[in-house]
Amino acid sequence: MTFDVQRIRAQIPILGLSVHGQALHYLDNSATSQLPESVLAALEDHETGHRANVLRGVHFLAEAATEAYEQARQRAARYVNAAEAAEIVFTYGTTTAINLVAYSLGQMLEPGDEVVISQLEHHSNIVPWQLLRDRAGIKLKMLPVSRDGRLDLDALEDLVTPRCRLLAVSHISNVTGAVSDLSRLVAAARAVGAMVLVDGAQRAPHGALDVQALGVDFYAFSGHKMFGPNAIGVLWGRRALLEEMPPFLGGGEMIRSVTMAESTWARVPHKFEAGTPPIAQAVGLAAAMDWIEGLDGAAAMGHLNDLTGAVLDGLTVLDGGRDRVRVIGPAGLQDRAPVISFHVEGAHPHDICQILDSHGVALRGGHHCAQPLMEAFDLTGTTRASLAVYNDKSDVDALLTGLEDAIRKLT
Ligand SMILES: Cc1ncc(COP(=O)(O)O)c(C=O)c1O
Repeated sequence: MTFDVQRIRAQIPILGLSVHGQALHYLDNSATSQLPESVLAALEDHETGHRANVLRGVHFLAEAATEAYEQARQRAARYVNAAEAAEIVFTYGTTTAINLVAYSLGQMLEPGDEVVISQLEHHSNIVPWQLLRDRAGIKLKMLPVSRDGRLDLDALEDLVTPRCRLLAVSHISNVTGAVSDLSRLVAAARAVGAMVLVDGAQRAPHGALDVQALGVDFYAFSGHKMFGPNAIGVLWGRRALLEEMPPFLGGGEMIRSVTMAESTWARVPHKFEAGTPPIAQAVGLAAAMDWIEGLDGAAAMGHLNDLTGAVLDGLTVLDGGRDRVRVIGPAGLQDRAPVISFHVEGAHPHDICQILDSHGVALRGGHHCAQPLMEAFDLTGTTRASLAVYNDKSDVDALLTGLEDAIRKLT
């Protein structure tokens, strides 16, 4: 089936921009993806017709805002196939979601309990656990990565011991694009009675999920990486666990009652949503989920695989067998997302990105908030092209032409 990418591109206004006199080729989607018209319209509609604070007011707008916010929660619940909407906690992003779990669930862990993460995690799935380790005396262990940038699952058996309480791993690496084998990870955790948290920041843009089928306990992701607004994220958690966990932040909205002596908590999910939440952002995120689910998922995946294959092939041709360009990640398309990181011998990623920017190509260069992974590959950074469903062959061509220019100038 052909995938009408031009029809999709026409729905994303920012793609019409020129930068430095060149057509924009936006290939930094793993950092932030761009907004479809329907999401922009949902944001405008909310802010011009329903703007008010939620949960407290009884006037017309307050009720409309609360209704819109809670409908967004229901939408998110359908997107991840949660058992109920109360399992959806709106956060400000993946980072806040993981910090919430590390802080709240962390209070239920004992000194000497173990949390296993991996070497390819984003800092937002490393640092909260290091903070917990320093605070609570837990032991933090790291699953290593293989040479092709995947989790080394052969190490699971030795690492995940009966002291392990939680395995916290990403679904898709934001650097190598490797898709984790969650079924093996979940099986290893379950074998010792440990919980599983998944950082789904790079998976959520690729279509609806089934957290129940995945068999995990927590799943976190961000709106701005899935064609939605900034400053909104989702933490899905099993209700029984959310009920048991103490609150994270304290303040308005998350309480049942407050006296000068003590406070009691609201029911989940509100217990975890202190203060005024990101209301319009939740509405925008719901629209983004509608947009993603309106795409032909199989055709979109085929399209992204074609483009990823074209980038990988293009890099090989560009290198011409000289071993100057090294892909940091799986060589093939199997269990691989459209995130392509590479190292060019003798050229700094920032310099490459700057030259590519002059071609209108937006890339990301640096450690991608994954310094332990860079260390594993003995690099300080890589250059990364990350594709979204609205990218097309012209983006790949511009990337490869710009890279040729960069390599010529820098090496
Ligand atoms: C895999 C992964 N986890 C977590 C994050 C953090 O997301 P946010 O900054 O939206 O909290 C990112 C962002 O790049 C990511 O790629």
